[in-house]
Amino acid sequence: MMSQLVYTRRAACALIAAVSFSAMPALAQEPKLDVIYVPTPQAVVDRMLELAEVKSTDSVIDLGCGDGRMIVTAAKTYGAKGFGVDINPVRINEANENAKKAGVTDKVTFKVGNLFDESVANSDVITMYLLTELNLRLRPKILDEMKPGSRVVSHAFNMGEWKPDVEEVVDGKQVYLWHVPAKVQGKWDVKGEQPMTLELTQSFQMVSGKATINGKPAEVSGRLRGKAITLTVDIDGKKQELKGTVEGNEVKGSGWSATKA
Ligand SMILES: C[S@@+](CC[C@H](N)C(=O)[O-])C[C@H]1O[C@@H](n2cnc3c(N)ncnc32)[C@H](O)[C@@H]1O
Repeated sequence: MMSQLVYTRRAACALIAAVSFSAMPALAQEPKLDVIYVPTPQAVVDRMLELAEVKSTDSVIDLGCGDGRMIVTAAKTYGAKGFGVDINPVRINEANENAKKAGVTDKVTFKVGNLFDESVANSDVITMYLLTELNLRLRPKILDEMKPGSRVVSHAFNMGEWKPDVEEVVDGKQVYLWHVPAKVQGKWDVKGEQPMTLELTQSFQMVSGKATINGKPAEVSGRLRGKAITLTVDIDGKKQELKGTVEGNEVKGSGWSATKA
């Protein structure tokens, strides 16, 4: 009787241990999502990639890639190299299956991981369908790491004070496009027909500041679209427009150039 009781207790303990052990991997595998899975409709995917002007030489990253449709489409339609990251392994399995079906496995890579751990420094285009608060967490990294002229397209959610360069509704869904602006804040010496010095302040793609021409001050306003800059200098009520391309510490325009002072 006693030995039967001991046996039953042992069996019960073994059973509890087995159940707890088998439940552990299942619990460990449950990913903590920052945003739930809702796929972007294909028509919206197509328009987002079109807006971003994806080229075969581009590297596209989808942060929270779901079933990989954005990256698979970028590879199949434009021949772009693509990378997708999703925290849910189920989505990554689907993405790899979709890449196989589309015949683009040589162009795309999918990885299980946290999107906040990924570098975006080598990407030319970011696509995302997240949430505004997640976009805002990514914003400093995008502006610091990405090359000027890189593009960011987002389905449904914006970037707060960083206003989009293009915004449109596709099949009832809002999409946004941003060009990562060159960094122009600071002092510049302008050479050309009208030499001047500029002291520029920058807020995302918007530029403002002061010009000094022959010792006289003038108001400056302007805008960047990636590396392309347009400045308007108000000289005694007469507006002069300067258009150019920013390359690091130089701006080159037609008939003028500027160097960072
Ligand atoms: C709204 S869905 C968008 C899917 C896909 N980008 C599309 O447009 O069809 C968001 C995706 O982000 C993934 N996700 C949520 N939190 C994440 C995180 N911290 N890191 C990586 N992926 C995440 C979810 O698993 C889901 O697949």
